[in-house]
Amino acid sequence: MTTTSEHVTGADAFDVQKVRSDFPLLATKAHGKPIIYLDNGATTQKPRCVIDAASGYYEKLNANIHRGVYQLSELATAAYEHTRAKVAKFINAAEPAECIFVRGTTEGINLIANTYGRQHLTSGDEVLISELEHHSNIVPWQMICAATGATLKVVPINEAGEIDFDAYERFLKTGRVKIVAINHVSNSLGTVNPIEKMIMLAHRAGAVFVVDGAQWVAHGPTDVRALDADFYVFSGHKMMGPTGVGVMYGKRALLDKMPPWQGGGDMIASVTFARTEYAEIPNKFEAGTPNIEGVVALAAAIDYLTAIDLRKSAAYEADLLAYATKRVSEVPGLKIIGTAKQKAGVISFVMTDPVVSSLDVGRKLDRDGVCVRTGHHCCQPVMDHFKIGSTARISIAFYNTRHDIDVAVESLKKVAASAVTRARTEVHDARNAAAATAGSDALAILENLRFAPASAASVRKAADEMIETFDFLGDWENRDQFILDLGSKLLPLPTVLKTEATRVHGCQSIVHLVARKKPQTEDVLEFLADSDAHIVRGLIGVLQKLYSGQKARDILAFDITGFIEKLGLDKHLSMTRRNGLAGMIQKIREQAALIAGVKP
Ligand SMILES: Cc1ncc(COP(=O)(O)O)c(C=O)c1O
Repeated sequence: MTTTSEHVTGADAFDVQKVRSDFPLLATKAHGKPIIYLDNGATTQKPRCVIDAASGYYEKLNANIHRGVYQLSELATAAYEHTRAKVAKFINAAEPAECIFVRGTTEGINLIANTYGRQHLTSGDEVLISELEHHSNIVPWQMICAATGATLKVVPINEAGEIDFDAYERFLKTGRVKIVAINHVSNSLGTVNPIEKMIMLAHRAGAVFVVDGAQWVAHGPTDVRALDADFYVFSGHKMMGPTGVGVMYGKRALLDKMPPWQGGGDMIASVTFARTEYAEIPNKFEAGTPNIEGVVALAAAIDYLTAIDLRKSAAYEADLLAYATKRVSEVPGLKIIGTAKQKAGVISFVMTDPVVSSLDVGRKLDRDGVCVRTGHHCCQPVMDHFKIGSTARISIAFYNTRHDIDVAVESLKKVAASAVTRARTEVHDARNAAAATAGSDALAILENLRFAPASAASVRKAADEMIETFDFLGDWENRDQFILDLGSKLLPLPTVLKTEATRVHGCQSIVHLVARKKPQTEDVLEFLADSDAHIVRGLIGVLQKLYSGQKARDILAFDITGFIEKLGLDKHLSMTRRNGLAGMIQKIREQAALIAGVKP
């Protein structure tokens, strides 16, 4: 197989430009730049045929399913059931009834945990997952273990991000494992797990195997029977289909014996107040009106994936991953996290030399139109394993090109270059700070520290001034820049004070906050804080202008929620950033309560 810059040639030809023209969103812009979408692990873009199928459903087919005696309802039912047959063929299930429609992978795993899990687990049993799992394949098992008395066991990973196979076999040998639940592909690191062998070993040990296939199905052919998977779960939106629909495949022999999870319409054979007879599978697990539009459009996604041929697209993606890995490794100070021998199209990385927080990396790439994910990727235990809080993640799909990677790498190189310049200034500042504090211990440093002064006569006035400034700045771009500028002017917080005691939890980036009662005052709070992320430093700047140097009781009485809404921060910050901001506010309020002598 030979490769050119944009497609695999020869017998396995894959025409990426033709494929790209099927995806309208790929022709759009972000910040005036052509969009480079590299966040396919989070969700994939949709081809025109899927978009048309979703709107076409409402234009021509909309009726509730399974209940109508009229033609329209019968047509909607047929379209819905037609998708089930397509899904079965797509994953090689023995029959359509083994494919249950759910909201997505998360709901599928919860369904299995709450039915099969609840039915079979008891005290002394074990559920085995791996350190590599998405929270969706951790939390439902924790919950069901807590409810049944079973124990959750975790297979560790090695430094490459591969499952420790010896440990896996050791866990199985105890004979206590009743359920194994492991992902086919890791979303945070891209590791492809040897799922077929793992299933075989689990069966030999008498356990059933649940595969979290969320990150696999759009990246290679799936054959649940060849795998001998007991359950296989995936989401429509990660396979070019709509959001809000997914599939939980299960072997009939298991599904038939499982109790339903949710009760309601469509899952019953008959109902009296004394007794309810449940429907057969698949209806037994599909209570209520489902996402009919989503299911119908999922058929179009499956047709699309079948037509492009997942074998060819997988070869193309493997080639692109190799190229991307080589190019990304050129970026100075960048470290790839997750170097498994078998990897899907994911490159997770941190910038360590000098340090640039993943959040800042993501925001800077965004300015160049490049969409990557930053954070813990719903895999906090993976981050803990590598002793990091977050990574930035490039995740590719078959419509990405070498050009996409080149743009991302050039943007990353700019981030690295400006970080080097910033680091030089910081080293200089740190030297000055060290010289000034040489020989002092943390307490003495605290005594002599310059805290942020009051920006106005009261919290209320400071808030009004800030709201006025934000109104004047107008659009969010200007406001964002203003916040970043505030962050670059923060008074320094010496490293010696950045300890576990001063750490603010709830933030994805690293935040430290030191507060005290201002000397020679009754009840004035002043504080300093710092973070490894630019935007968070900016938010600290906002909070300092508002709170630092103000009376503790005023701080506690102030309507901070209303203020955040007035600034528009509630709408323009991501949920994790809002959580981080809430964490800082809580810490400041706790300190204010201590000074005021009241409960926070
Ligand atoms: C490996 C893995 N499992 C489960 C999920 C949850 O999928 P959903 O949010 O579609 O339910 C994801 C989503 O990113 C994932 O990557």
